[in-house]
Amino acid sequence: MTIPVDIAALGARAAAMIEQLGAISSAPDTLTRFFLTPEHRRAADLVTRWMGEAGFAVSEDALGTVRGAWHPAGPDAPRLLIGSHIDTVANAGKYDGALGVILGILAVEAVARSGLLPAYGIDVLAFGDEEGTRFPTTLSSSAACAGVFAPASLQARDGDGISLREALRAYGKNPDDIAASAYDPSRVLAYVEAHIEQGPVLEAEGVPLGVVTAIAGASRLSVTVTGEAGHAGTVPMRLRRDALSGAAEMALAVERIARAGTDGMVATVGRVHVEPGSVNVIPSRVVFTVDLRSASDASRRAALTRFEADAHRIAEQRGLGVVISAFHEVATVPCYRDIQRRLGEAVASLGQRAPLLPSGAGHDGQAMAKLCPVGMLFVRCAGGISHNPAEYASPEDMGMAAAALIRFIERFQQPPSDGGTSGAQT
Ligand code: GLV
Ligand code: MN
Ligand code: MN
Repeated sequence: MTIPVDIAALGARAAAMIEQLGAISSAPDTLTRFFLTPEHRRAADLVTRWMGEAGFAVSEDALGTVRGAWHPAGPDAPRLLIGSHIDTVANAGKYDGALGVILGILAVEAVARSGLLPAYGIDVLAFGDEEGTRFPTTLSSSAACAGVFAPASLQARDGDGISLREALRAYGKNPDDIAASAYDPSRVLAYVEAHIEQGPVLEAEGVPLGVVTAIAGASRLSVTVTGEAGHAGTVPMRLRRDALSGAAEMALAVERIARAGTDGMVATVGRVHVEPGSVNVIPSRVVFTVDLRSASDASRRAALTRFEADAHRIAEQRGLGVVISAFHEVATVPCYRDIQRRLGEAVASLGQRAPLLPSGAGHDGQAMAKLCPVGMLFVRCAGGISHNPAEYASPEDMGMAAAALIRFIERFQQPPSDGGTSGAQT
């Protein structure tokens, strides 16, 4: 059966839903929606309403993941999972994460209304902790679904000192229920996510959609540099132990390492905290983050080793202390070759070419890969701009992506069979 698709109508609905979800923010004129905040609650309530209107049975798990279930073959039939996240970075774009949830709802609703009765069920998932912007936990909600949630992360604290355990309780959740949130791997067929590309490749290729080959691994470090506070007017330059100057040199060192790196390596120092933070006091303590990514785990690990050596050398030369701790480490995840092929065929059936490309950004699929085969569909991103309010995907491209998911679901009668991985980027 070929389900009739109205790409323009799907795109218009996606665009309207993006605006509705994008209006839910902690700030009036910008989009900021962190995990387990009142804004997260309001976004989860809106997604719950949409899923209910689409005819799904909606529930929420112990990490706040909203699950919309469409189980035409009964609750015991195997399931295809389709999802993305509804948390954002600070001052975010409206499409990162939200788009995948919305496209999942639209596609499954269209399939359900078509009368097609697949032998499997579908759960549409809206995760709450993909960005890792509130707690240093990143992917905790998808990890819970995948059965790999690390209980130690309940102790992680946000910038206000609130622990993840406390925040979950305040959100109405019981941390003791987390283990029960895990899917049974024997009942899950695959996890598929549509996401804005967040890069410029599809735009350069002149196509609306692409199929992801692998999700680059990432390491995140917290680096604490300690020196000595002193009077900005009296301590000669040669006698200073300035923690910020040392941290700056370390930031340049990691930039140099990534520039010389392979496999699309990138490094970012995105957060710097300086103490005491006064205009006339030499900085005594700096804590900064490093986010290092590469599509090869070996090259990423080698870069980390080099950075640690450089940071210790710089600290020694400047009479500073340095402590480096890793708070996020996720390996490169190849997308299942069989799912890549099926997504490619779904896009081709719409008369479009779907280039293969790796993802430099992190995604919930990295955690879900511990549970089942994963695959991703990318949607063209204007100017390649993301994590920025200017982020944009056109209604036409979003409609095409919803249609591709419908075609994928339609054809997804057999579970992924080859167990093959992309092998291309790792
Ligand atoms: C998530 O957006 C990440 O890749 O940092
Ligand atoms: Mn995302
Ligand atoms: Mn993001």
